[in-house]
Amino acid sequence: MDRLKRRAGAMSLTIFLSLAAAPTRPQADPSLEHRPWQGPEVSPDLRAESIVRQMTEDEKFSWLSQLLPVPSLPSASSQPGAAAYYQPIPRLNIPARIENDAGLGVTNRGDTRPGDDATALPSSLLLGATFDPALAREAGVVVGSEARARGFNVQLAGGADLIREPRGGRSFEYVSEDPLLTGLIAGQSVAGIQSQHLVSTVKHFAVNAQENGRVMASSDLREEALREADLLAFEIAIEVGQPGSVMTGYNLVNGEYASESDFLINRVLKRDWGYAGWVMSDWGSTHSTEKAVLSGLDVQSGAMLDPAPYFGRPLQDAVAAGRVPRARIDDMVRRILRSLFATGVIDAAQKPASNAVDPPAHRLVARKVAESGIVLLKNAGDLLPLSPDARHILVIGAHADMGVISGGGSSSVTPPGSLRLPGSNLMGFGTEKVYHPSSPLSAIRSEASGVVSYVDGTDVAAAAQRAHDADVVIVFAEEWRTEALDAAGLALPGHQNELIEAIATVNPRTIVVLETGGPVTMPWLDKVPAVLEAWYPGSAGGEAIASTLFGKVNPAGRLPLTFPMDEGQLPRPTQSDPALMASSPGRPIKGGIVRIPYDVEGSDVGYRWFARQGLNPLFHFGFGLSYTRFALSDLSVERREGALLASLTVTNVGKQPGTDTPQIYVSLPGPAGFVPRLAAFGRVRLEPGESRRVTLPIESRLLARYDVARGLFHIAAADYVFDAGEDAGEAILRMSLHLDAADAGK
Ligand code: BGC
Repeated sequence: MDRLKRRAGAMSLTIFLSLAAAPTRPQADPSLEHRPWQGPEVSPDLRAESIVRQMTEDEKFSWLSQLLPVPSLPSASSQPGAAAYYQPIPRLNIPARIENDAGLGVTNRGDTRPGDDATALPSSLLLGATFDPALAREAGVVVGSEARARGFNVQLAGGADLIREPRGGRSFEYVSEDPLLTGLIAGQSVAGIQSQHLVSTVKHFAVNAQENGRVMASSDLREEALREADLLAFEIAIEVGQPGSVMTGYNLVNGEYASESDFLINRVLKRDWGYAGWVMSDWGSTHSTEKAVLSGLDVQSGAMLDPAPYFGRPLQDAVAAGRVPRARIDDMVRRILRSLFATGVIDAAQKPASNAVDPPAHRLVARKVAESGIVLLKNAGDLLPLSPDARHILVIGAHADMGVISGGGSSSVTPPGSLRLPGSNLMGFGTEKVYHPSSPLSAIRSEASGVVSYVDGTDVAAAAQRAHDADVVIVFAEEWRTEALDAAGLALPGHQNELIEAIATVNPRTIVVLETGGPVTMPWLDKVPAVLEAWYPGSAGGEAIASTLFGKVNPAGRLPLTFPMDEGQLPRPTQSDPALMASSPGRPIKGGIVRIPYDVEGSDVGYRWFARQGLNPLFHFGFGLSYTRFALSDLSVERREGALLASLTVTNVGKQPGTDTPQIYVSLPGPAGFVPRLAAFGRVRLEPGESRRVTLPIESRLLARYDVARGLFHIAAADYVFDAGEDAGEAILRMSLHLDAADAGK
């Protein structure tokens, strides 16, 4: 400790002295002259600048591309399983940068840390269904503290793409189809991770909307639509979470790779949003040296997967030949250092690790998240909550005797005891279907006092025979999604629809529990009285499902995306070009770019598309039932100190305590206007009979259209309509308000 302190002291002095001697020193606040440069009170920019000046060319370049696979690095042995490792610079007291996946918990790539008991949080989609940014932050703290305790200091988390493609393979890693909800939840989960002195990314910037052919799919979209939807989600997430890094997507946007898009990186992110952190590519998705560097990409991640070490020797040559300014290299390195200082990574590395984590407490957070995001979709005749003294409950399907399913790919967390079955074989990961070890069957058994039995459901006729005599049947149905592959359609895979139909036919007291990575169709819905959407509920998912079924928890989750009746209602009923799907995944075939026309819906993603087309979905965005009932009254919208605030009264008119999520949608009628957009939401917990006045700030960019010529959001002078409701489908309260013309930011 003393030695460390002495070293740090000596370091401070060295840096201070050499800065004092530097011919072009940064504009330092004179009051800082007598302070040590290592001190956290000095701005991250100045500290970064001071270090950049000390670094050799080799040290700088060693930070810009990851040329070796991590497992072969001897120094990686203390942090096995990392996704990337960049050398420390001991003489400057700069630790190694050790990057790891991801947002749903600390992954254990290749099982290199046997027995690692990292908490598997529920999917980001479930987190979206909580509509609870504060809870997202709490979940982020769990991920951040577990990552730091394992020696990682950059977490590749913060999925903030909008779910434009409901069949998207990574929908479970994203939050929602709405920019405000996505931005707030992703931003708070990043803030939670970074509160533990780690960097978190947001990713995958931007419009990485589908997995099939992701390296050759071009998301084509006009700038207004991009700014008002996909980019707005990132903009809010970045404002809220202040991520130290942004990861670009594999995809192209308007014909240009996201990793070398001057528009996305230089113009939008760095210039318009003033982003000061570093931009890394996704693994193996850098395509050039000069173009990428000059478009703003700062780090070539997973360079060993690229055809060339673009940011290694070729970049050094480009600098030597004057094709890339040397100052740009300093800018790249400075951005990395700035984020490492701003998040406290460097200061924390100089203190002894004091991060004792508490796995049982973290499991409780995972459970709380799951219990807050499970959505009750149907409850005819108040079949739920179940009474503990049902004589015989039959549980069927989806390996409910073993655990709960999770999504596949780089985000996959595999706690000990997980059931691991063959999944897909794409890109060297996502090869397994992992069931987190929280068995719904065991959890139901501990809630029930009667007999609880199980059949696996593979034999439909045998299951139906057993179901006939049960008091209640709970059918579990699963839909596995994975990185690098989209879902083939929105139907539950295999014979599960047939199974549910057969069970509901013989037993009218049938409950369906869905574990899905996105929306699914429900051809059996009229026959089934109760449906619970449990998503991928994580480490304590089984208990969360059981406590919801038996009413220990009153469901409060809301759909973060629309459930269509069928694919025919989608902007693209069939998904992309079959040739594209066949060639996925892999490096792009020359000239093999496939255009995805997202201008069909433009900024009207998800529920906005349904409103624009006048379509009635199976379940609306924002929808979710409770075991109690709520009433909304007295909507007002007013300007207070420059902010626009919506207020309304929420009353619990039912018989149980519960949590409501009132939502405010704003629309501008007329040809230049827009369909309702979620502009504010809140969660309020109420006792039976209790009323509360809730005030919700309206996000001004949602009142605006993006004016490309002027490069900003503009609110037109007009009468706007404000709807308050329980979902996107129905306005319970409505008022209109005239707003004067105003600009609402970049
Ligand atoms: C994924 C990223 C991930 C990276 C490193 C890529 O395949 O798209 O989300 O962070 O791998 O594991």
